[in-house]
Amino acid sequence: MADSLKALREYLTRHHGGDGHQAAQRTLEGHARNHDERFRTFWQKHAEPAIRPGGQVVDLGCGPGLFLRDLAEARSDLTLTGIEAAPYMLEHACDDEYDFSIRVADLNDPPADLFAAGSIDVALANRLFHELHQPLLLLQKLHVWLKPGGVLILIDMVRQPLGSFLTHKFGRDRLDEPLDARAIAALFEDYFEHNRYHDSDLLALLAMTGYEILADQEIRSGRAVQIAARKPA
Ligand SMILES: C[S@@+](CC[C@H](N)C(=O)[O-])C[C@H]1O[C@@H](n2cnc3c(N)ncnc32)[C@H](O)[C@@H]1O
Repeated sequence: MADSLKALREYLTRHHGGDGHQAAQRTLEGHARNHDERFRTFWQKHAEPAIRPGGQVVDLGCGPGLFLRDLAEARSDLTLTGIEAAPYMLEHACDDEYDFSIRVADLNDPPADLFAAGSIDVALANRLFHELHQPLLLLQKLHVWLKPGGVLILIDMVRQPLGSFLTHKFGRDRLDEPLDARAIAALFEDYFEHNRYHDSDLLALLAMTGYEILADQEIRSGRAVQIAARKPA
């Protein structure tokens, strides 16, 4: 295995709390919540019109692939491809049972030939960007891979003030009792890892790499956003 993939996998295991299989389990259990009615409405409005019959949809950072499974059941005409790097996510994947495939690649610096130029109708990046060391190279390459008029649906956590993060985590706004040092250190690490970008940072990166914004919607009480961006036709 290349040293860079090994280093990425070590980073992801740390980011996912040190226990990959538990992280995969959480991703499986969170699937319905993370692809809920609000997601489906956004997808129907902004992604579906860009998917041509027989087209290609890609899930970047697809985890165990449940979104692709759902899409495979609904649209048998599409080529469905997931990209994933964490071995524990791949072990829980159901790509043998359904009509989609998962490729292993590092989306921090994906190979230019991961997809052919102009071959993707719609790409989804659902809670991937905060896990990347930087998303700029992916945005540049994706711009080449998308068809003209192709759409990126980008969903992620965004920056929030430390106070509202702590209030949300503890479920209260006073913290005057003794706290466990290790748990609090882990909580602050979690804060910094999930508070990478403002909504406006993501919009700036998209504009600088040639995308036009179709929609930008705050979700989860402002703790996350869903953005639809298009490669101009
Ligand atoms: C928070 S999970 C979300 C999974 C899935 N998109 C969902 O919504 O259920 C992010 C996924 O992106 C993958 N990932 C993170 N960084 C990656 C990278 N550099 N290359 C490939 N996959 C990556 C992780 O392993 C993880 O499965």
